[in-house]
Amino acid sequence: MRIKACNQNQLKGQYTSFVDLAFNPMSHALDVLGGITAEQFLTEYWQKKPLLVRNALPEIIGLLEPDDVKELALEEDVSARLIRQKNKDPNEWHVKSSPLTKGDFQKLPNLWTILVQAVDHYSFDVAELWKKFPFIPQWRRDDIMVSYAPKGGSVGKHFDFYDVFLVQGYGHRRWQLGQMCDESTQFIPDQPLKLLADMDVQFDEILSPGDLLYVPPGLAHYGVAEDDCLTYSFGFRMPNLSEMIDQVSDKFAENALLKNPLVDVARQQTANIGEINSTEFSYLKAELLNYLSQAPEFDAAIMSYMSQSNYPNSIPEPDEIAAEDLIEIIGTGYQLILEPASKLLYRTQADGLDFWANGENVCISKSFENQLKQIADGQSIAFDENLNQPEYLEDIAELLNNAVVMLLPPN
Ligand code: SIN
Ligand code: CO
Repeated sequence: MRIKACNQNQLKGQYTSFVDLAFNPMSHALDVLGGITAEQFLTEYWQKKPLLVRNALPEIIGLLEPDDVKELALEEDVSARLIRQKNKDPNEWHVKSSPLTKGDFQKLPNLWTILVQAVDHYSFDVAELWKKFPFIPQWRRDDIMVSYAPKGGSVGKHFDFYDVFLVQGYGHRRWQLGQMCDESTQFIPDQPLKLLADMDVQFDEILSPGDLLYVPPGLAHYGVAEDDCLTYSFGFRMPNLSEMIDQVSDKFAENALLKNPLVDVARQQTANIGEINSTEFSYLKAELLNYLSQAPEFDAAIMSYMSQSNYPNSIPEPDEIAAEDLIEIIGTGYQLILEPASKLLYRTQADGLDFWANGENVCISKSFENQLKQIADGQSIAFDENLNQPEYLEDIAELLNNAVVMLLPPN
C-alpha cells in the first residue's frame, strides 16, 4: 500500500480538529480579540487602529522553541532571512536571504534576528492557529512568519502594507507603535531594509507569551526582544493591481482570437490626420474595457492568481497513489485535510462550486463538492465508508497526487 508521506518535516506534529458548525464567529465574543466580537473588531480596528490583547492565544506557548526556528531556517525550500546589526554601528544593517547555512549562525554580532516565512506550511500545530481567526477568509491570508531574536534584536522601525497579528510565542518583546505611514514616507538611505528614521511613539508595551498585538497596514512599529524571543506574525495581505493585471494579460495572451484586429470605428472624414480623436479613443477604450468586463479568461485569471501559494516551494511532491490503494485504509481512522502548504478556494456559481487550488482549476465530481468545500473551509473529514464510492476515490487520489489535500493518519 502506498500512502503519501504525511510529515514532510518533523515539525509537523499532532493535529487536532474541532469545528462547531453552529458557531457563528461574527457575533460571539472571541478570546483572541480580548472579548469583543469579530463584528466589532472588523468595524473598529481592522485596517484602522491597533489592538492589544493579553493572553489572547495561550495555545501558542511552547509550540516552537528558539532552536526549532534556527533549524527550520536551514531547511531546503524554507524561505528565511538573517538580519544583523553591526556591533560597531548598530545603525548599519545586513540582510542575508535563504539559503542560510550553519556558518551564518556562527560569529553572530550582538544584535540579530532570524525570520522564517510560512512556518504554517511546515507545522500542523502552527497551521491550526489560523482557526483562531475565522472572521477573515482564507484568501486574505499570507503566511505565519516566526522571528527569533536575542535580547536587543529587532528588524528596525518600519511599517508594512498588510494587516498583521503579532503574537508572542516565547520570551518577551517590547513593541512601540507610531504614526501612520504611506508611499511617500521617507526611509533611511543606503540600508537593505526600509527603515524609518523616526517614530512618534504613541504605544509602548511589553508582550509576554500568548499576548497579541494587531497592527493595521501603514502603522509604524518597532519590536525589540527583551530576552530570547519568538514572535509569530499572522500576515493578511491584499493582492495588488499590478500582479492582477499581469495574470489577466498572461491568460489573455493564450487566446489567439484576441490577436485579430478590431473592426474599425464608424468612420467619417478625418480633419487632422495626426490626431486620434475622442470618438476613436473612446471606441478603443470601450472595446478593451467591454471585453475585460465579460471575458471568461478574466475570472479564471483572478481565481488562478488568488489560489496561488506565496511559497510554492513548500508544497510537497507526493508519491503517486491510485484510487484502489485508498480502499485499504477506509475506516481506519485517517482524516482528509487541506495540505497546509496548499491554497484551495472556491466560488459559488449558478451550476455549483468552482474550485481552484495552487493556481489551477480543480475538476471533481459534483457529488464530492460538499466534502471538498468543507476541506477548503478548514475542516477535516473522516476517511470512512461515506467516501467509499469509485468517483470519490478517484477525486481524492487526484487531489492527493496534486498535494491539494493530505491524509492524516490516526493518532
Ligand atoms: C519581528 O517579528 O521581529 C518583526 C515582525 C514585524 O514587524 O512585522
Ligand atoms: Co512589521
